[in-house]
Amino acid sequence: MEPIKVGLLGFGTVGSGTFTVLRRNQEEIKRRAGRGIEIARIAVRNPAKALAVLGEAASTVQLGSDFEAVTDDPAIDIVAEMIGGTGIARELVLRAISNGKHVVTANKALLAVHGTEIFAAARDKGVMVAFEAAVAGGIPIIKALREGLTANRIQSIAGIINGTTNYILSEMRERGLDFATALAGAQALGYAEADPTFDIEGVDAAHKLTIMSAIAFGIPMQFDRAYVEGISKLASIDIKYAEDLGYRIKLLGITRRTERGIELRVHPTLISAKRLLASVEGAMNAVEVHGDAVGTTLYYGKGAGAEPTASAVVADLVDVTRLHTADPGHRVPHLAFQPQSLADTPVLPIEEVTSGYYLRLRVADVTGVLADITRILAEAGISIDALLQKEAEQIADNGETDVVIITHDTLEKNVNAAIARIEALSTVVSNVTKLRIEAHA
Ligand code: HSE
Repeated sequence: MEPIKVGLLGFGTVGSGTFTVLRRNQEEIKRRAGRGIEIARIAVRNPAKALAVLGEAASTVQLGSDFEAVTDDPAIDIVAEMIGGTGIARELVLRAISNGKHVVTANKALLAVHGTEIFAAARDKGVMVAFEAAVAGGIPIIKALREGLTANRIQSIAGIINGTTNYILSEMRERGLDFATALAGAQALGYAEADPTFDIEGVDAAHKLTIMSAIAFGIPMQFDRAYVEGISKLASIDIKYAEDLGYRIKLLGITRRTERGIELRVHPTLISAKRLLASVEGAMNAVEVHGDAVGTTLYYGKGAGAEPTASAVVADLVDVTRLHTADPGHRVPHLAFQPQSLADTPVLPIEEVTSGYYLRLRVADVTGVLADITRILAEAGISIDALLQKEAEQIADNGETDVVIITHDTLEKNVNAAIARIEALSTVVSNVTKLRIEAHA
């Protein structure tokens, strides 16, 4: 049988990795897919640069700078979008779909923001949109959620799904670096997105979490409802105090089904240092999924990089090749649930989320200050799990001290109300730093 023909849009890290892996493993891939998979065309802004990367292999592909020549080429069966972002990538993906092409993409932002539109267009045309590489790079988490765990009522997902921030947090904890120095190190190693704001402010993780949440719970993509808080304001002292109390701080994406709605949130989070997720260091990713039948499962691996991401792209190319001739109604639905069966379960605002909390504040070291604070917490119905009083490190001999309080699970709005009362006490000399704790397995 003729090989299936792929057109690549973009030839950066992921595109060139895909080309390399497909060529290197072409025989095995063909035995798996049932026919060859051939990258026949590549469109890229700077073909000269791509030519240098392709080397001798350049003679096997049609290389150019016209993206629409790829999306419109009748000989192309699958368009692999490797451009990124939500601008031209959206237009080209919709154009490819309208031309009856299947699409493979690593573009998490595109799907988290425009997924509903793109999947509807694909359904109308009876084509597939495959996106394993969009979440956690080489970890086959989309496959696991959509297919492997399909028997389960999924309860929750907690993931380290941004390698840049995990690297920064590891460097801050292990080497005592400040945030800016650790970020510069992550950029030098090529982990960060072109605009590192998306990494450090939690946006990249929220894109990935939005996709996983939709698949886990059968709800539409709702990136605009996600609560997103990054690590740029995280102080080294909190990493240290958390460690003293037996916790690590990770940028977690958490999505959970509750009786009142779906939690969808990304923020720096304290987790017990004994938990497997806590030992995921450097740029690695890990996703913990809890299903009612299977219990807790954990998926670990590289979340970025040329070949790890290509591993996911090529897996999608194989899936599309196998299912190319199948009746569209017999393919796995894009979001795992049949489109007419998506639920309208609300996404909870962050004030309605239940969590444990880490509160740090600086107080005058005078009689009764702790009694005042604990009374306010008790009046708000907030139960204290642990309390730590520290000598303030920056201010010597002025009689001030840092207090760290760990609470049991409570509603965020109750904690916010208690914090406002605590900050109004004359003996409290700083704002309260609030971090969430993830205690659930
Ligand atoms: N910038 C991302 C990360 C790369 O740091 O994980 C993959 O999305």
